Amino acid sequence: MKLWGGRFTKPTNELVDEYTASIRFDQKLAKYDIQGSLAHVEMLAKCEIISESDAATIAEGLKAVAKKIASGEAELTEDNEDIHMNVEKLLIDEVGSVGGKLHTGRSRNDQVALDMRLYLREALVTISQQLVELQQALHTQAKANLDTVLPGYTHLQRAQPVLFAHHMMAYVFMFQRDVERLADSWKRVNQSPLGAGALAGTSFPIDRHYVAEKLNFDGICDNSLDAVSDRDFVVEFLSNSSLVTAHLSRLCEELVQWSSAEFNFVELDDAFCTGSSMMPQKKNPDVAELVRGKTGRVYGHLMGMLTTLKGLPLAYNKDMQEDKEGMFDTVETLKGALGLFAPMIETMEVKKDTMYQAVAKDYSNATDLADYLVGKDLPFREAHAVVGQVVLSCINENKYLLDLSLEEFQEFSSLIEEDIFDVLSPKAVVNARNVAGGTAKNRVEEQINKAEMLFEKNIGWIKEHAAKIEELSVVE
Ligand code: ARG
Repeated sequence: MKLWGGRFTKPTNELVDEYTASIRFDQKLAKYDIQGSLAHVEMLAKCEIISESDAATIAEGLKAVAKKIASGEAELTEDNEDIHMNVEKLLIDEVGSVGGKLHTGRSRNDQVALDMRLYLREALVTISQQLVELQQALHTQAKANLDTVLPGYTHLQRAQPVLFAHHMMAYVFMFQRDVERLADSWKRVNQSPLGAGALAGTSFPIDRHYVAEKLNFDGICDNSLDAVSDRDFVVEFLSNSSLVTAHLSRLCEELVQWSSAEFNFVELDDAFCTGSSMMPQKKNPDVAELVRGKTGRVYGHLMGMLTTLKGLPLAYNKDMQEDKEGMFDTVETLKGALGLFAPMIETMEVKKDTMYQAVAKDYSNATDLADYLVGKDLPFREAHAVVGQVVLSCINENKYLLDLSLEEFQEFSSLIEEDIFDVLSPKAVVNARNVAGGTAKNRVEEQINKAEMLFEKNIGWIKEHAAKIEELSVVE
């Protein structure tokens, strides 16, 4: 008989059991479900709702169940629908009918909301940790490439030379926003819904704050209807994750381009590439492509969750069971991608010479010729037109600006003098961008130093919050 079978006169249709059960995927929540139950049962005894000795028996039983689930010894069944009822059933098998006292003053509705928050809390810490490792790999490449110049692009056309270190640091700051967004979401995730009951609260004199404290929550959800209906924290996580994957996919695209024969700017380590079953010469940037490809499923989960919540009346509705697979899959997808990315960036060979050749053979110093003329008091608009003429003539003659002689320059403007050759060299062009946040070497060094402070802050946050979670790991 089902745990809720009392008012039924027939068994459920087998297909209904299969269709409505969530145990296939929500067994991931077992550890958190039991952590929550341990806190709940301790509170029941403290509030004298059940006896100390019953509470102790139940707590021992829960720990035994946790061990059996972790070792695979416990059988989780669709008959028992979800992780909450499976644990309760296993507990009763373990300690007898006293196990039936655990669910006093509680509903699966507040219980599942609790489990989701406990699970996500841990994921926030793990993913932040991985993001910091990726930031550090990018930062290391930046430090090693403070003299490496490559073309910077707009519209994928060569625009102005930049330092490779500058390019790496752009990603460091993107991922910094991701870390900060995840950390900011913590305060909305870390509120305890337990005690909301099915929707209206409970008639037992429970102590919600005690449970919240036991589980290291920052506080309790203020409204019981909201507590069981709220999945905003899932949407927020999926949205924050979508930006992480957006950022990763942009870096992926650059790696794919840079490692092509056409660019030849980087060589990814063999350990992070795969071959072709047919073409023996191939070395494919599969990891970068697959991470780029997986952006789709993460955006999909965000759209799925938003759509599931649209128009749902208060309070709990079974629709909300659809909150789990997308969230779990997003966590796994990010963990997989980030775990590979940090070492892939760290081991990437940067081809400084090819990058330099590319800058030497383009017109990315044209702005600097115009700026030079502006320095000689020519209005920028006229300078722009003059340089346009110079570039056009160079294109026709298959030359670059630095191939011209002083006499040839002077045919376009008598303002040009011998010092122009220093102004137009790629390094000079880079170092001329000596504005805060610019690509001049000293400005990139400033970014590198600033990032070190941000990493310290990130690591501090991770340590502090990981400790809050580890304290609870009653269940191995
Ligand atoms: N398996 C359910 C879920 O994941 C748990 C809550 C079920 N509550 C209920 N009243 N049917 O959403």
